[in-house]
Amino acid sequence: KPKKRFSVLKWTWRATYLSALATLGYVGFGIWEMRNPEDQPEPDPSKKTLVILGTGWGAVSLLKKLDTENYNVIVVSPRNYFLFTPLLPSCTTGTIEHRSIMEPIRNFLRHKKAAVKFYEAEATKIDYEKKVVYINDQSEIKGDISATEVPFDMLVVGVGAENATFGIPGVREHGLFLKEVADAQRIRTRIMDCCETAVFKDQDPEERKRLLHMVVVGGGPTGVEFAGELQDFFNNDLKKWIPDIQDSFHVTLVEALPNVLPMFSKQLIEYTEKTFQEETITIRTKTMVKNVTDKYIEAESTGPDGKKVLEKIPYGLLVWATGNALRPVVKDLMMQIPAQKDSRRGLAVNEYLVVKGTENVWAVGDCAVANYAPTAQVAAQEGAFLARLFNQMAKTEEIEHELKHLSVEQEKAPSKEARDQVFTEIKELQKRLRRVKQIGPFEYSHQGSLAYIGSEKAVADISWLSGNFASGGTLTYFFWRSAYLSMCFSTRNRVLVFMDWVKAKMFGRDVSRE
Ligand code: FAD
Ligand code: NAI
Repeated sequence: KPKKRFSVLKWTWRATYLSALATLGYVGFGIWEMRNPEDQPEPDPSKKTLVILGTGWGAVSLLKKLDTENYNVIVVSPRNYFLFTPLLPSCTTGTIEHRSIMEPIRNFLRHKKAAVKFYEAEATKIDYEKKVVYINDQSEIKGDISATEVPFDMLVVGVGAENATFGIPGVREHGLFLKEVADAQRIRTRIMDCCETAVFKDQDPEERKRLLHMVVVGGGPTGVEFAGELQDFFNNDLKKWIPDIQDSFHVTLVEALPNVLPMFSKQLIEYTEKTFQEETITIRTKTMVKNVTDKYIEAESTGPDGKKVLEKIPYGLLVWATGNALRPVVKDLMMQIPAQKDSRRGLAVNEYLVVKGTENVWAVGDCAVANYAPTAQVAAQEGAFLARLFNQMAKTEEIEHELKHLSVEQEKAPSKEARDQVFTEIKELQKRLRRVKQIGPFEYSHQGSLAYIGSEKAVADISWLSGNFASGGTLTYFFWRSAYLSMCFSTRNRVLVFMDWVKAKMFGRDVSRE
């Protein structure tokens, strides 16, 4: 009997050993495959040219699911990488290094079935009538040719949006935005610059206070997440390494509406405001910034008696997060299409994401208006929908071509049997065509909203069955982390982000100024 027990143990060990070996082999093969892509067939110019503008959430989600063998695909974007924006606020304080949330578009495109052309350039104009996109190399190094044109048969506009300033004077000159990697780097440098300058020898206490006043304008999720990250940075690292700033460092969030995070449920708004209070972040609601100078902002606040007061708020760092505005290339396209004349917030699209007033132009993400919030979730679902649509359109064309060929064959058939056989084939194909053509309109499925609010707390409004589930706190923070980790673009990104989190926990954030 003891012998038998021993053999069960032995076999358990063997099975564990073998499955560990198999897992290692599987992961190893995955990495090897990722680093050694197979040869790709060149793009076929005889096929329809599908031009995709952008490498953001909408465009990349389309490219992920698109069968590139069906089209001559060309991608144009000034950014040769995809950026996982939900973790961008963490890059402003060094919780996460920016390269951990970037995925080179070249690596990704090299794994598609058929090759895709990529041009690192900005689309400066879309000529709808001529079916041409004008592109411009905006990078530092330019060759003899830095501007040219790309003709298209089909066009997808996924250029996102730019930062809204509402024409408020001084914002562009003195404020910092938070949309791109370079913005996060600028903010990180500026935070450290303010701290080091504040403790400069003989610095006046008032000036020190100004330099250490970190003002965030816009109480949407971008502003809230950044304010939370910044306060964490101060609490966990800055005040330890630069104790002299301890009494003067302060974060203020300015919001024009009566509360922050308007898209979240009331209880989560209250929870966020309470958490900010505990973290000593000041929230100034019903306060509208009207003017920005290099050292202070001018804001109009409404008191409890309804009276308006204009005040000057000095700042060292000003982060401007007041939402989205149209990109010039989108505005220009809208002006060319009469059906777009009443649209204000972006390209109005129909339920198949076709830009209204056109036949061969589609729009996804923040530049499109389809009655959904401008979020990554919406953009990604729109992109995936277009991929399905385009794959089916290609299949439809292929079947229709085959049907034409068969009807000619049927006419030429030498005997009744042969004619009947072709007839059966035609019937089968027509059935397949009907199936393929059955693609319903785009329907957005809302999974919920998540936001980090600092001190290891997050808020979540999750769509659950047919209801809504709201939660806030530390457990939600772990949910937030695992959700975003799983949503990262690639395994490489996931590993890097995870390592950054471990690194920040073990050694703290890096307070050196680049
Ligand atoms: P983008 O992702 O912005 O991509 C636009 C692409 O177009 C870029 O590659 C850009 O380089 C390119 N481009 C720009 N101009 C041109 C041009 N002229 N020609 C060609 N290409 C051009 N949403 C969520 O759902 N959850 C979140 O947690 C979340 N967090 C966020 C955090 C931050 C800090 C920010 C700024 C946004 C966040 N969002 C979040 C919103 C989300 O990032 C956007 O809704 C999403 O990026 C929109 O996708 P898009 O493809 O339309 O545009
Ligand atoms: P937003 O549009 O959501 O919020 C901007 C805020 O700025 C508004 O509340 C507005 O009232 C305020 N504002 C405008 N002008 C002002 C002024 N002059 N003075 C004071 N306040 C002013 O913008 P945000 O946060 O940049 O987000 C953009 C989009 O990205 C949104 O759709 C958002 O849902 C999405 N996003 C989602 C995130 C998440 O789900 N965690 C994180 C970040 C962004």
